[in-house]
Amino acid sequence: MSPFQLTRTLPEDATDAALRSDVRHGLTRSPRTLPPKWFYDAHGSELFERITELPEYYPTRAEREILLARADEIAAASGARTLVELGSGSSEKTRHLLDALTGLHTYVPVDVSGSALTRAGRAIAAERPGLRVHALIADFTSSLTLPDSPGPRLVAFLGGTVGNLLPDERAGFLASVRGLLAPGDALLLGTDLVKDEEVLVRAYDDATGVTAAFNKNVLTVINRELGGDFDPDAFEHVAVWDADREWIEMRLRSRTAQTVKIPGVGLVVDFAEGEELRTEVSAKFREEGVRAELAAAGFELTRWWTDGADRFALSLSVAREE
Ligand code: SAH
Ligand code: AVI
Repeated sequence: MSPFQLTRTLPEDATDAALRSDVRHGLTRSPRTLPPKWFYDAHGSELFERITELPEYYPTRAEREILLARADEIAAASGARTLVELGSGSSEKTRHLLDALTGLHTYVPVDVSGSALTRAGRAIAAERPGLRVHALIADFTSSLTLPDSPGPRLVAFLGGTVGNLLPDERAGFLASVRGLLAPGDALLLGTDLVKDEEVLVRAYDDATGVTAAFNKNVLTVINRELGGDFDPDAFEHVAVWDADREWIEMRLRSRTAQTVKIPGVGLVVDFAEGEELRTEVSAKFREEGVRAELAAAGFELTRWWTDGADRFALSLSVAREE
């Protein structure tokens, strides 16, 4: 078995403080919002894995198809000795990349979900003798300190998770990723593409209600961590396509007028009947937009691959000289 190391870069009370601050700010503004990173406790991470298997949720299958076809090219172009993966979750698709990266020395999966990270990191370390696995429990939107490891580095950000950041957050985030890299290092980015509204909405409002349960899980997290009394059944899962901003919004709509108490942050929140709380945006992209956002952050997009049905894209970019 190869070495496995787990580092928590934020103390647990910093995570609590971040949740309290996000809940306090998000639930006292209008319209009300919560950041999507709080979906992913152990149960939320399991629900996400079930989403990836739903017939309506095409992004995971589409991205796997591209990775299978292009992993050797990615390995040859990057020559990576260290692979850093942001929002790695189960690291399931990453195995195709790990198979192809024959000179790899260190794999650094980074995730806020300690349960998903530990399980995936330990499994990969057990499967791949000789590969050092150094997992980081960390928020990829805060400044990351990576373990010492040999270059070249390849940062992978798969699944379309970059679309869960708002445009201004995305710009800061991509610039911070550039800051982790030396000129010539690479970024592998998965982006879901703009397509028919019907296909998109179905992917975020599946027939069996797994996505609805995933969405409502954020209320359960607040109840457990902050002593809240949200009744998840008193909210309806809503997925809408915003054609101007080209993103899907997930919301929770209050079925009735109701009052929710959250003692951990000293909040009493009144919801009107029909009032909506935005829990996630999932932006969909076009090639030129991705290229421009990457260029603004100091990357040059060098390869752009899509699946056979043009639903999802994987791009490889090189960190430019500063
Ligand atoms: N990359 C995997 C998982 C995508 S789900 C795939 O393609 O299937 C999104 C993952 O990002 C989850 O595991 C979640 O815990 C993690 N995540 C979300 N926001 C995060 C943040 N701010 N910092 C670190 N990890 C985050
Ligand atoms: C992790 N992320 C890319 C998913 C998405 O598609 O935006 C999260 C998700 N939300 C609902 N279903 C899946």
